[in-house]
Amino acid sequence: MIRPATSIDAAPIAAIYAPFVDRGAVSFESVAPDDSEMARRIERTIETHPWLVAEDDRGDVVGYAYATRFRNRTAYRFAAETSVYVRATENRRGLGTELSLALLDALRGAGFRIAVAVITLPNDPSIRMHERIGYREAGRLPAIGWKFDRWHDIGYWSLDLGGEDPIHRPIDVATP
Ligand SMILES: CC(C)(COP(=O)(O)OP(=O)(O)OC[C@H]1O[C@@H](n2cnc3c(N)ncnc32)[C@H](O)[C@@H]1OP(=O)(O)O)[C@@H](O)C(=O)NCCC(=O)NCCS
Repeated sequence: MIRPATSIDAAPIAAIYAPFVDRGAVSFESVAPDDSEMARRIERTIETHPWLVAEDDRGDVVGYAYATRFRNRTAYRFAAETSVYVRATENRRGLGTELSLALLDALRGAGFRIAVAVITLPNDPSIRMHERIGYREAGRLPAIGWKFDRWHDIGYWSLDLGGEDPIHRPIDVATP
């Protein structure tokens, strides 16, 4: 089941996320957020953007997806950066796809126009999952992140969410 997240989901979300901070460069953070910091992030994010969790049959959170502003300047307000994480034991069961599709629907419903996934390279599972649901590569930045004693490249994958041009909606989306 996929449902909106609340700060009560912070502990399982922090547990799913921590390995990607502690090992490898999927995340460019260096210290994994604890439960209370994750709760703060969820609360801040859901003021303006969707954050979803996937639960298994027992009600345990096994994956999550959320969106944030892509960049802060006003003209970027219709662009959302999307992130998706699935507990390692649950990979390749379609959860990442389901979470991402639900997130894209939520973004469309909220009036966003472009979704952007920022992927540390290489990450074939993530690239394939995003391309299967319609994201397309939009460029790479070589050697942009320094983590665990080496440089890492990132790639942008974007998806046009469709919808009308926001001519008559000057600043009504995702403006904190
Ligand atoms: C990327 C991620 C979210 C995918 O979630 P998932 O639930 O495992 O993916 P799905 O089961 O929905 O897979 C969809 C498709 O993606 C591709 N894919 C997923 N995992 C793959 C793997 N390990 N190897 C190759 N392709 C893979 C396949 O094309 C798959 O379709 P298929 O199983 O029918 O062949 C998950 O691997 C993950 O959490 N990775 C670590 C965190 C991360 O990298 N997040 C993205 C940051 S940008």
